[in-house]
Amino acid sequence: MINIAVLGYGTIGSGVVEVIETNHESINRKIGEPIRVKYVLDKRDLSGTPVASKAVTDYDIILNDDDVSIVVEVLGGVEPAYTFAKQALEHGKSVATSNKELVAEKGAELLAMAKSKNLNFLFEASVGGGIPIIRPLNQSLTADEINEITGILNGTTNYILTKMADEGADFDEVLKDAQEKGYAELHPEADVEGYDACRKIAILTSLAFGMQVDYEDVHTEGITKITETDMKYAKALNKSIKLLGTSKKIGDNVYAMVCPMMIGRDHPLIGVNDVFNGIFVNGNVIGDVMFYGAGAGKLPTASAVVADVIDAAKHKERNIMQIWSEKKLHLADIGDFEH
Ligand code: HSE
Repeated sequence: MINIAVLGYGTIGSGVVEVIETNHESINRKIGEPIRVKYVLDKRDLSGTPVASKAVTDYDIILNDDDVSIVVEVLGGVEPAYTFAKQALEHGKSVATSNKELVAEKGAELLAMAKSKNLNFLFEASVGGGIPIIRPLNQSLTADEINEITGILNGTTNYILTKMADEGADFDEVLKDAQEKGYAELHPEADVEGYDACRKIAILTSLAFGMQVDYEDVHTEGITKITETDMKYAKALNKSIKLLGTSKKIGDNVYAMVCPMMIGRDHPLIGVNDVFNGIFVNGNVIGDVMFYGAGAGKLPTASAVVADVIDAAKHKERNIMQIWSEKKLHLADIGDFEH
């Protein structure tokens, strides 16, 4: 029996419980033994919810239970997620997380710690919601040197931009709609100011180049300055405005930035609308590869988290992530960036 603990019963946490319950037969078959959610940690009162009997508020109960081998961290934010993830690894438990703030800031350290203990620290859901992108970069595209990663990495802003372009919808109303649908971050400026996409491109760049990118070095601009007039101009030019996160290697320099760009009908990401994300990768051997799917939302994101749980359960004593070192990757000045 694989016992897991879920930290946080919000949108993603409840999705993780639901996915494990809905697909338990096939998940058990894939792991080779049954899996169950033993604990759900949340500071809120969970009585009256489907997980009332599993609810705990004291993390020590989870840490000191040797039957728990995997901790799912879906709290969001750096703290207490960082302390909880570190303590889980110290107590011999693998960690699966959807938390991009945590991975962008502490990824290298937590990966090194997991590796030293032969445990897994997995974070497929931290970028692109349900889209497989971490695992492909980590396991499938490893023969390549990555030249470029460009993506629509934030579902909320893509949803807002799509509705503004197609329906002339009001920014604030669509944002509210995205919040109600469970796409938006707790603090929506993380989405609309580009901070969320910034962390995601920092994670992908760190993974692609094997070194720690400081997300604060990524030039970041969100969509709050996009007006109705911008939308009309884009339409007249037969183009679309998209919030793109991009990193490119040119010579010895790596450039990374997040900003709204006007893209034409021939751009690979032009058809990526609504809450969908699209990620374009160019490798020096494989050429162009595209990843597409639901970039936010309860079940798509939970799908990626549970896939990590299955991987951790199948590779109990073997670290399956390449690590990116704590050595810093200095980004070049975007003044010279070509796109
Ligand atoms: N708020 C994020 C988004 C959630 O809209 O993409 C998924 O990371």
